[in-house]
Amino acid sequence: MESKIISSEIRLSSLPESYVRPVADRPRLSEVTYCENVPLIDLSSVDKSQIRLEIGDACRSYGFFQVMKHGVSLELMEKMQEMAEEFFQLPLEEKMKYYSDDPSKTLRLSTSFNVKKETVHNWRDYLRLHCWPLHDYVHEWPSQPPSFKEVVSAYCGEVRGLGFRLLQEIAASLELEREYMEKVLGEQGQHMAINYYPPCPEPDLTYGLPGHTDPNAITILLQDQRVAGLQVLKDGNWMAVKPHPNAFVINIGDQLQALSNGRYKSVWHRAIVNSDKPRISVASFLCPANDAVIKPAKELADDGSQVPPLYRSFTYAEYYSKFWSRNLEQQHCLELFKN
Ligand code: OGA
Ligand code: NI
Repeated sequence: MESKIISSEIRLSSLPESYVRPVADRPRLSEVTYCENVPLIDLSSVDKSQIRLEIGDACRSYGFFQVMKHGVSLELMEKMQEMAEEFFQLPLEEKMKYYSDDPSKTLRLSTSFNVKKETVHNWRDYLRLHCWPLHDYVHEWPSQPPSFKEVVSAYCGEVRGLGFRLLQEIAASLELEREYMEKVLGEQGQHMAINYYPPCPEPDLTYGLPGHTDPNAITILLQDQRVAGLQVLKDGNWMAVKPHPNAFVINIGDQLQALSNGRYKSVWHRAIVNSDKPRISVASFLCPANDAVIKPAKELADDGSQVPPLYRSFTYAEYYSKFWSRNLEQQHCLELFKN
């Protein structure tokens, strides 16, 4: 079988044609500025109303923020990063046991974004795992590196706790009942994308991941602590998010934009690559139950405010299949669900 993944390739001196973007669709890296003031929220603060205010502000004006003292063990964050590195260093034959380009697989190693749908590829490999409930999925996870299952299970559990806490703060910041999101989202699933961006011979011509929004409810991103690459669209400009030691980057996904009736934005973000060093990121996605019915909270639409509901009601299953049937950088998927 032809190897499609790029993490085992030798370093190339030029970018293969299938990764080269048309001139109008390149990252224009020289125009990107560092965002010095990405909100950084201390979740251990005793001033709970302050946390809520900061989260509300961040969600309204940025759609993303960072959290520190978030309760996830720093040792576990480091180990998770190590597992990711070690996995992608495995011999090609070992990794290819997990290869699939079928997005419906609950465990798969793949490359780019959606190889069957896209016309230009992205300079990324990724291992995508369903992780909750753990006992349904752990048995299919990689058996190499040997401690992968143990470390990743523990990490998923702690990140899940953080995700629920954030959903509560977000609901409270919208003056909804604290449990509002959890009730609507149902028995939430959890997926993880372990992203590996190898050094790229011509980083100006391609993306690790092109601009996209996340289709789920909320995303908790562990950024490589040494190598930057995440950029977020703010007021029409791409801004680089510098990794902050021991912090997670949190972003609002499409479902929270719908539930908040557009008050909170699922922002466009992308990953760029560099010619120097590989970069790793671990994205944890909290995902509504398939049968969860998503619609703007009535307190935030029509009967609770002057604003009519911006989106029709839909199930998450319907949304998710629409998301994967498109190519990534088309219009915001939520546009297709507008009233
Ligand atoms: C993602 C994502 C950003 C990154 O996996 O959805 O946006 O920095 N990743 O890898
Ligand atoms: Ni994303």
